[in-house]
Parts: sequence; structure tokens; C-alpha cells
Amino acid sequence: EWSMAAYRDQKIADIRAQVGDGRVICGLSGGVDSAVAAVLIHEAIGEQLTCVFVDHGLMRSQEADQVVSLFRGHYNIPLVHVRAEELFLSGLAGVSDPEAKRKFIGKTFIEVFEAEAKKIGGADFLAQGTLYPDVIESVSFTGGPSVTIKSHHNVGGLPERMNMQLVEPLRELFKDEVRELGVELGLPPAFVGRHPFPGPGLAIRIPGEVSKEKCDILRKADLIYLEEIRNAGLYDAIWQAFAVLLPVRTVGVMGDARTYDYVCALRAVTSVDGMTADVYPFTSDFLSRVATRIVNEVQGINRVVYDYTSKPPGTIEWE
Ligand code: XMP
Repeated sequence: EWSMAAYRDQKIADIRAQVGDGRVICGLSGGVDSAVAAVLIHEAIGEQLTCVFVDHGLMRSQEADQVVSLFRGHYNIPLVHVRAEELFLSGLAGVSDPEAKRKFIGKTFIEVFEAEAKKIGGADFLAQGTLYPDVIESVSFTGGPSVTIKSHHNVGGLPERMNMQLVEPLRELFKDEVRELGVELGLPPAFVGRHPFPGPGLAIRIPGEVSKEKCDILRKADLIYLEEIRNAGLYDAIWQAFAVLLPVRTVGVMGDARTYDYVCALRAVTSVDGMTADVYPFTSDFLSRVATRIVNEVQGINRVVYDYTSKPPGTIEWE
């Protein structure tokens, strides 16, 4: 009979067989997939694994610290935390095209990762938290000709350049199965249940040019939105929810003063694998509460709108 516990044991055996006494390096993204992959591999080969967390400064509020303390404190897994916010933000200055942002972030991520791998003396294997839908999406976009809608940078390039073999223990799994495996491995359910977060992070939730100031504004709005979603008990019913900071300023009024600030768009969808998605139907009370809190509490935003587009024709992210 199939069970997640048996699957875990099988994967541990597979990883041991593949890796032998080789050394493995794993890039943590801050997300669930790479964390589950890392913990699984750590169970299999212990100290032969080193994790590298390239912190591009484009994470949500407190997220980087949570990942670092989870790995260092809870699991005692060797983790290199590379603080590279300035490198990424300075390189993103003046870049507004979505694919150009992704390319820069992907390339810089690889460079930083490579440099860290060298510092720790290299490795024979590269571990990645690639899921089954990533495998399919990187082959072709379903339901149409083979066109690249968005280049997800977490799959290609690195192993060839670094002359390493891939270890991808989640390749057969869907997101819900990865979560189940994470719980099986003892990861906190709240961590495992976190919504997916794209590799390029907040950079693709700020259409147009990215700056530290905009990232900080967006982090505050996003935190309020997610806090309200959790308080309403809706977090687990939603596949992804996040705020987007639009590159548009509109006129508003606060007290008796005129304001001229950014617009924030809220997105929330249900989905099984991210390939198609439906809009989450919040009540108007809920949306009003979030809009009021964001405009009152976040300096720089004076208007909030809700995105009512399903996928297709929209995509989940705005870029
Ligand atoms: P879209 O916007 O294509 O998103 O409907 C589908 C799923 O993919 C995530 N996404 C990304 N993940 N790098 C990633 O690692 C990316 O460049 C990227 N773009 C979108 C998105 O968050 C959603 O879960």
C-alpha cells in the first residue's frame, strides 16, 4: 500500500544510491519546495549536504529570517546565508521589462551561488526542489504551441556550468504531495502550508522599475493583506494571495490634504498546480477592511484595487 512514509524511505534510499559519498549543494529559495528537498536530502546523507540561501532582498517581510532560523535552529543543517540585496537592487535599477528582470535575477543568482560553492570547496551534486509541474511547464506551455510565457529560472543552466549532476527528489510530485512529504519530515505545518513564492520575488510584483523604497512599501501592504487573510481563516483555502505595487500614482484625500501616491492591487487565486487559476471570491466587507488598513497604515499607497481576472487569460503574477 502506498504511503508518504514509504515514499520518503524510498527517496532516502534513492538519494543515498545516487550520491554515494559525494558532496551535495542545495540552493534554498525561501520557499517550501527547496526546503522540503533539503530536509529530505539531509535525512539521507546528513553532513554531505550544504545549503546556500542567496538572499536577494526581494523576499516578503521577515521571510529570510524565518528560513535561516528554521534551518539553523530546528534542523541544524549547515546553511550559508548570502546577503546580496544591494547587488540585486543596484543591478535592477533602470530595468523595467519583466523578462529582463528575470534574466538579470537568474544570472546574478547563478553567479552568487557559484561563488559560494567555490568558497566551500565545490560539490559533486546540485539539489533542486523541482516539481512535476515545473518539469512539464519547462517543456511546453500546456494547451498551446511551445512558446515561453514566462521564463522560470529555477530549472536550467547551473548544473552544466558547474559540472554537477542533479539531485531532484521531488520531480514526481505535485505541490500538495510536497506539503504532505514536508509534514512527514517534521517541517512545521505552517511553514509547509505557505503559498508558493516566485524565484524573482517581489521584483515581478512591482511592474516597471524596482527600488528598495518600492519593495519596502509593498512588503508592508502584503503583510497587512496576508494578516487579514489569516485572521479570517482563509489562508489555506487560497493557492496564492499577494499584493502588487503598481507604477501609477493617483490623487486621493487624507484628512483635508491632497495625496498623490501609488496604487496597490490585491491578487488571490485558487488553483491545483498553478497552471490554471480562479479568482478567490472575498466578501466586499473583507476587501474594504484590507483596503482601509493598507491606505491608513502604509505610507506611499492611497488606493487599493482587486484583480478579478482568472488564468487564463490572466497569469497569476502580474509580470
Ligand atoms: P503565472 O504568473 O505564470 O504563475 O501564472 C504560475 C506560478 O508560477 C509562479 N511563477 C514563478 N515562479 N519563477 C518562479 O520560480 C518565476 O519567474 C515565476 N513566475 C511565476 C507563480 O508565482 C505561480 O505560482
